[in-house]
Amino acid sequence: MDRSRGVKLVVIGAGTMGRGIATVALQAGLGTTIVDLDPAVLEDARQAIERRVTRGRNADSTDALPPSLRLSTDLRAALGDADAVIEAVPEVRDLKRAVFGQVREFAPKRALLATNTSTMSVSELAEACDGSARVIGMHFFNPVHRMALVEIVVGNGTSEQTKADAIALCARLGKEPIVVRDVPGFVTSRLGLLLGNAAMRLVEDDVASAADVDKAMRLGYGHPMGPLELADLVGLDARLNNLRSMFARSGDPQYSPPAILERMVEAGRRGKKSGTGFYDYDEQGRRAPSTQGLAS
Ligand SMILES: NC(=O)c1ccc[n+]([C@@H]2O[C@H](COP(=O)([O-])OP(=O)(O)OC[C@H]3O[C@@H](n4cnc5c(N)ncnc54)[C@H](O)[C@@H]3O)[C@@H](O)[C@H]2O)c1
Repeated sequence: MDRSRGVKLVVIGAGTMGRGIATVALQAGLGTTIVDLDPAVLEDARQAIERRVTRGRNADSTDALPPSLRLSTDLRAALGDADAVIEAVPEVRDLKRAVFGQVREFAPKRALLATNTSTMSVSELAEACDGSARVIGMHFFNPVHRMALVEIVVGNGTSEQTKADAIALCARLGKEPIVVRDVPGFVTSRLGLLLGNAAMRLVEDDVASAADVDKAMRLGYGHPMGPLELADLVGLDARLNNLRSMFARSGDPQYSPPAILERMVEAGRRGKKSGTGFYDYDEQGRRAPSTQGLAS
């Protein structure tokens, strides 16, 4: 990645994370293109990003406007002049491998190639790029504009230059990196998924309500948010994908998806983004009293 000139970033996937990453990139002054298969998702992302960028600016700010956001459904065209690529498509192995195959084909040889995967092997994704030393994990957190951390996951073949470039990109985006080895779930998902699963099983076994499980961790342990509120924020479908991937990779039954989660996703309860999950949400995303049972 050439840091001596304006960095052009391509974000692949305009969902929860892709739009968050694109927002902080725009706020940091990076030329940013966001790519998705679905034009309606792209338009929704554009509106959400504009709202966030506008809200983040001081009313009497004299700062230059952020460079305009580019939206595209054409990955090939978007990648043509990329300096850095961050992939944020769903946590499905074959999908991510296929995307990295296209990235290998169409991105310039200088570009940093990052994945926002929560659980998958960065080294294995790099294989879809002919084992490229430019591939690295950059694991952002939700909501991206508020969470300072980026977990940098160094694959078996990741070069020192790529690691340095990823750390520099974090600094540019105002984020704090930690550097970890490429093991299943890295540091954050390994710990976070366990807590989430234990919380879901407590609700499933009717030990306590979702609200009381969350209250326990907020008031008893000082967590800013309970594990079930967090699962709703992440998206229950995204959480289920993460658990399936983590369980497949680690073989550890503690990571097998709880039945309650499978049932909720099957019923269309995908968390805050769908208006219902462990809690219900109104149009503005504010929590409303739940009208549906959880345990059965
Ligand atoms: N949701 C979270 O809180 C969170 C946190 C950290 C990391 N992650 C990781 O980020 C990644 C994305 O998760 P998400 O929650 O943003 O998913 P999401 O389902 O909200 O968004 C994914 C987007 O990718 C698009 N997409 C699918 N296939 C595509 C393709 N071939 N090309 C371009 N776009 C494509 C979809 O249309 C969708 O808009 C996953 O790897 C997940 O594990 C998620």
